[in-house]
Amino acid sequence: MNNMFENFVKMKTWLGKDVTGKAVIGLDAGTKSIKMVQLEKKRDIFEIKKIISEIRSNTDLEVTRSEAMKRLASKSKLKGASTVSTLSSRDVIEKFIKLHSSSLRRINDLMKWEVRKHITFPADEAVYDYNVHKMENSDEIWVHLAITRREIIENQIMLIMEAGFKPWVIEPQSRAIQRLFLNSVQPEEEFFVAVNIGSSSSTLIVMNKGELRMAREMDIKGDDIDNSIKNMFQFTKEDGEVAKREVGFSMAIMNGAEVDPDSDEYIIYSAIESQIDSLVSEIRQSLQFYLVQYEKDDSPEKLYITGGNAQIPNLVPFLEKKLGISVGIIDPLKYLNANKTRGEDEIGSGEEFSVACGLAMKGK
Ligand SMILES: Nc1ncnc2c1ncn2[C@@H]1O[C@H](COP(=O)(O)OP(=O)(O)OP(=O)(O)O)[C@@H](O)[C@H]1O
Ligand SMILES: [Mg+2]
Repeated sequence: MNNMFENFVKMKTWLGKDVTGKAVIGLDAGTKSIKMVQLEKKRDIFEIKKIISEIRSNTDLEVTRSEAMKRLASKSKLKGASTVSTLSSRDVIEKFIKLHSSSLRRINDLMKWEVRKHITFPADEAVYDYNVHKMENSDEIWVHLAITRREIIENQIMLIMEAGFKPWVIEPQSRAIQRLFLNSVQPEEEFFVAVNIGSSSSTLIVMNKGELRMAREMDIKGDDIDNSIKNMFQFTKEDGEVAKREVGFSMAIMNGAEVDPDSDEYIIYSAIESQIDSLVSEIRQSLQFYLVQYEKDDSPEKLYITGGNAQIPNLVPFLEKKLGISVGIIDPLKYLNANKTRGEDEIGSGEEFSVACGLAMKGK
């Protein structure tokens, strides 16, 4: 299995040194917070060794990101560690392309041209990598292609190095989520969808028989929900965020109880519903696209949600009702024996850490 962008990072900075025996950390520099996870493997089971996050201030300035990263590096006491990091899914274009196995010989050339079809910037600014998956009992191959811009990779490398870490691998969030499912969650279902709902991006993946079959950025993310509540109440966005966390979806309203339409509960419900309804349509459209692309007519057995917004009160029953399939929430800490590491840096549930955990697993 290739590592998306790994070769590029090696070429620039890491110089291909072997990282065995050195600390490897998963580093997810999200919009709301930067998350770092270090794992250890005991008898084939992953456990959390260190888990830290650093909240960023409410501005989106690059300098804040870099300061937060430096603070996190000092707090971690792991300066010099090799990082497996990721980019925002807004900055990565991912495509799944079907080819005949005879194309393997000239796959490099084919991908070079394929990249050009999907970018709106000059081809010499594109950085890409791909993974090839051979289909069972068939001469088809599927290629997972991920493309980003050179500038984005360079900024990421700078951010990591300035904080005192070493960039080792940079990969799309979809790969991290896939790895978390394969290594730790190990769901019963073969065919399922997972959505990571962050603050400024959401990523959907489709998994079938352990393989990543689709990865897409969704339009709806946490910020849209906060803004929607803010607009209804003429709140600040921050107050909207608190209402989302603390009130979320009222079960009474979901079950059809008569509630005063002027009540806070009702208004918050409607504001979140308007956004989650759009997310539901996006999920449906993605599945439709999946079924056409793979010429299938079955449906996924389950939807998993994770990322900070998966914790919106009663989002699971809301989605179950709307989509008509079983929905589960993924808190990676439940699978990683995290209790003993939750000391000083008390972390409640860990939905925000799913991507960082999946990244950290790359090092083991
Ligand atoms: N208890 C909670 N209930 C509802 N939403 C929550 C809760 N805790 C955090 N969130 C939301 O989760 C989001 C932060 O989650 P996460 O850390 O996954 O995002 P991020 O990685 O910073 O964002 P991105 O991936 O888009 O850059 C914010 O939108 C926040 O409002
Ligand atoms: Mg995130």
